[in-house]
Amino acid sequence: MTDYRRLRVALLGAGAVGSQVADLLRTHADELSDRAGAALELVGIAVRNPDAPRDADLPRELFTTDSEQLIVGADIVIELMGGIEPARTDILLALSSGADVVTANKALLATHGPEIFDAADQVGASVYYEAAAAGAIPIIRPLRDSLAGDRVQRIMGIVNGTTNYILDRMDTGGTEFADVLADAQRLGYAEADPTADVEGFDAAQKAAILASLAFHTAVPLEAVHREGITAIDRQTMEAARHAGYVIKLLAVCERITDAEANSPTGEAISVRVYPALIPREHPLASVHGANNAVFVQAEAAGNLMFYGAGAGGVQTASAVLGDVVSAARRHIAGGVGVGESTRANLPVVPIGRVTTRYQITLEVSDEPGVLATVAGILSEGRVSIATIEQTIEPAAEAKSLLPAAQGVAGIARLVIGTHTAREQDLSDTVDRLAASGVVDRVVSVLRVEGN
Ligand code: NDP
Ligand code: HSE
Repeated sequence: MTDYRRLRVALLGAGAVGSQVADLLRTHADELSDRAGAALELVGIAVRNPDAPRDADLPRELFTTDSEQLIVGADIVIELMGGIEPARTDILLALSSGADVVTANKALLATHGPEIFDAADQVGASVYYEAAAAGAIPIIRPLRDSLAGDRVQRIMGIVNGTTNYILDRMDTGGTEFADVLADAQRLGYAEADPTADVEGFDAAQKAAILASLAFHTAVPLEAVHREGITAIDRQTMEAARHAGYVIKLLAVCERITDAEANSPTGEAISVRVYPALIPREHPLASVHGANNAVFVQAEAAGNLMFYGAGAGGVQTASAVLGDVVSAARRHIAGGVGVGESTRANLPVVPIGRVTTRYQITLEVSDEPGVLATVAGILSEGRVSIATIEQTIEPAAEAKSLLPAAQGVAGIARLVIGTHTAREQDLSDTVDRLAASGVVDRVVSVLRVEGN
């Protein structure tokens, strides 16, 4: 057996991911040591409750509540507690104590990334975070290393497993939102507070991380436009299917030209998370269950697609262990760690200045002149109609659906597809439609992505 240098590995957290990391570190110790060129010794696991049952069979003597004592003296610290504190303080302590850090904590990196990367730079250490975006899928290294010589134009990703699982089940099984969410929690995909998933916070954190890497710009979480999926109901799902689309929660990070941007070349970026319609034939439409996929368009490389498990304990542990091997190799090789590249410093434009296509669904009274009025309001608002489809609810059904329909011939449902429009123009126009007197209800306004 090779006589490797021994590296002390401290693990913070033994939940869904941490317990699997500890198990794999122990089970595959020899193999991992050969790959790392160092003997990786798990010296302890900090948790809140050392006696809590774990998903893996781990020796009780490894567990402690004293994270500080564990961190000081470690060569590699793996943070898998999640949340901001004590994760932030523990990571800063690890770096200042000379350890390299591996974390899957997107919430922390999206909010305190610059502080943590600066701290690592100051001591010449490295922070590895492959698992912080899209779980098991290798996407951080491709953006940071493999595509470092290219210019990324656009990233369109399904980066939250919980919401993809929910939307997929609603699409394929006609299931209700609340029932599917309970299943996602049971399967361990959802965050401790599932609001982080369904309201798009988790995806926004990952979008900030991906955009920062792709565009060499520190993207603050506050600059990411975020909408969740709680307003998507079965009817909207069915309408999307009927129109040849599927609804996915997308993280879109895009390089744009914006005349109002505070940049010498007019170059800027947009980072946004929202449920969007994508054509059923688009590669992202076939991403099912809790899987994630990230579609990258780069100037020279063209289109690239990264696909796989975006959540789950053992799957995510794979990405964490890849980072542990990298950290061990760097630790053995010595020298300073590779810092984050943020020199491009591009401005992030607000959502109002972004352009995309939309599908607007309206309920209107089936009366003469209504369609002309709607078309006029869209035209005044600089929103160009690409397609329009009208279905009529017979009067009897209409009256039971909508009290306002008493005395009219019926309700018409208008589904309007637009050409590319500016978000601010579109939202002003929808406000005018709602106030026009001819629109009974704005049923939904969804962006259309992935032409
Ligand atoms: P869990 O909630 O399952 O586990 C958290 C662990 O951290 C528990 O063992 C808990 O201890 C411990 N912990 C929490 N707070 C403290 C504290 N103050 N002091 C000491 N220990 C503490 O989290 P996950 O394993 O699901 O997630 C870990 C990280 O990985 C998060 O950043 C998450 O966002 C990220 N991630 C998770 C994925 C997933 O599919 N689950 C996928 C990709 C990333 P105890 O058990 O005693 O309560
Ligand atoms: N809750 C997250 C998800 C876990 O559903 O994708 C992975 O980050």
